[in-house]
Order: sequence, then C-alpha cells, then structure tokens
Amino acid sequence: MPDLYEVVMGRKSVRTYDGRNLTPEDLQSIKDYAAGITNPWDIKVDWVFMDAEEYGLSSPVLAGEKMYVTGLVDKVPYADVAFGYAFEQLVLYAWSLGIGTVWIGGTMKRDHFERSAGLTAGRRMPCVSPLGYPAAKKSVKEVMMRKGVKADVRKPLSEIFFDGDMSTPLEESGSIAKVMELVRWAPSAVNKQPWRIIRKDGRYHFYEKHDKGYISDAVGDMQKIDIGIALYHFVRGLEEEGMAPAVSTEDPAIDVPKDMEYIATVSI
Ligand SMILES: Cc1cc2nc3c(=O)[nH]c(=O)nc-3n(C[C@H](O)[C@H](O)[C@H](O)COP(=O)(O)O)c2cc1C
Repeated sequence: MPDLYEVVMGRKSVRTYDGRNLTPEDLQSIKDYAAGITNPWDIKVDWVFMDAEEYGLSSPVLAGEKMYVTGLVDKVPYADVAFGYAFEQLVLYAWSLGIGTVWIGGTMKRDHFERSAGLTAGRRMPCVSPLGYPAAKKSVKEVMMRKGVKADVRKPLSEIFFDGDMSTPLEESGSIAKVMELVRWAPSAVNKQPWRIIRKDGRYHFYEKHDKGYISDAVGDMQKIDIGIALYHFVRGLEEEGMAPAVSTEDPAIDVPKDMEYIATVSI
C-alpha cells in the first residue's frame, strides 16, 4: 500500500464514475484483499460483488458506476461497528489502487439491493458502495451534495479528543497527534463525525455521540458504523507508528452526557 496518511487524507467519496468496468486485475486484487479483512469482534463479513447492469442497481446520487460491493453480517451486537471497521479497510485499499468508492447507507432502493445481494433472515446489509474509476469531472449533483454536507471540512481535534473527561481537550504531540488526524478525517454518514474519544489512564475510550434518526432494523445504527470507521483509522495509524494497539470493550464508567454511548477502548 502507498503511504497510509496519503491514502486517508487523499480519499474522498466518489459519486461520478467514468463508465469503465474495473480491470480483471483490479477486481481480483480487491476480492483477494477483502477475503483477508478482519475486525476486533471476529464478526464474519460476507463480501458480495454485484454487476450494476446485471442486477439493475443504481443510486440517485451516482453516475457512471458499473459495479457495487457490499458485506452481509449477522444481526448480532457490534455488527454495525464491525461492519464499519471492515468495510473501511476495503474503501482505503480501493483508493490506494486508484479506485473510487462512496459509502451508501441511505440513497438507494434498499430492498432491491438486499435481494440482489442475497440477504437472508437474521442478517444485515448495512451499506453498499460502488467500485469504479473516478470521472475527470464531478456531476453537478455531486458538487452540490459535497457542499450540502461540507464534505471537505471536519471538526477541530479539540471537539473530538478529550483528556480524562469531557471538559478538557486532549493535547498530544508526536506520533499520537498524527494518528488523531487520521481519525478526524474519517468519513461518516452526513459527515456528522459522531466519534468522541476520551483518554484516561493511557487508554483511549471511543464513544458515539448520538444524533436522531440513524437507527433502524435494516442497518443497525448507522452512527455505530461511523465509530467502526474511526476506530479502524486509529488502530491502523497506531500500527503504522510502530505500536501494537488492542481493542477491548469494558466501559470505564466515565461521566459523559446522556447522548453519548460507550463503544470500545484502545490500549497501546
Ligand atoms: C455509514 C455511512 C453512510 C453514508 N451514506 C451515504 C449515502 O447514503 N449517500 C451518500 O451520497 N453518501 C453517503 N455517505 C458518504 C458521506 O456523506 C461522506 O463520507 C461524508 O460527507 C464525507 O465526505 P468524504 O467521504 O468525501 O470525506 C455515507 C458515509 C458513511 C460513513
């Protein structure tokens, strides 16, 4: 893979594709990579690659896409977090090959995608993404969408990372500060960036700051997918900096506002 920081900071959602199919080599490379993807909860993700034309798949926000990928998971606790953690690996790997993606959790005919992907009872297809080569020019719709969610902007670190409790922003320098930027630039549904991280006793506790309207039986909790994405960026970044992070789930019982939910802890 090229430099992790280049991939994470350079990645953007792609909603306008150039109409070409993936080369057989690129498709195989993505399939091989997907087969090796893991997550901290060992929740199995079954990857499904679908030809857009064959299944009649489209999304009102996309143009020129030829293929979609999704993952199917059992409806179990942490399935949404694990899905985010896993799918983001595919997203970043695709980008490293020059292949565009965009997480799609809402703007699609979900029933049709779920049937096409072979979803069965007791399982979920939380999100899909197109896989393709970005077009030279974005569609007008894409430009408007990016403006609408301020897709090129993120919250400052002082609103994301905290020291001990929620009252003190975390001041870090060196490699941890670099890795915090990787979390900051993670993609999230409607660019809400619902992750909050409190460092306490040298451990990093990840919380979800809930907004209304992101929980459904079909998806689980879309914002937990976001937390999975941020968690992966953090863990992968720490590894890149030569550390050996471990993910666990024991609530440290820190006093947090009512709309925040504990999700996971990273120990270094
Ligand atoms: C879980 C999740 C679901 C998303 N669902 C949609 C969607 O349904 N339609 C869409 O156009 N973009 C969707 N997005 C893309 C976000 O809008 C996008 O990642 C965010 O605005 C930041 O832009 P960037 O990815 O270019 O950095 C989703 C992103 C995530 C993480």
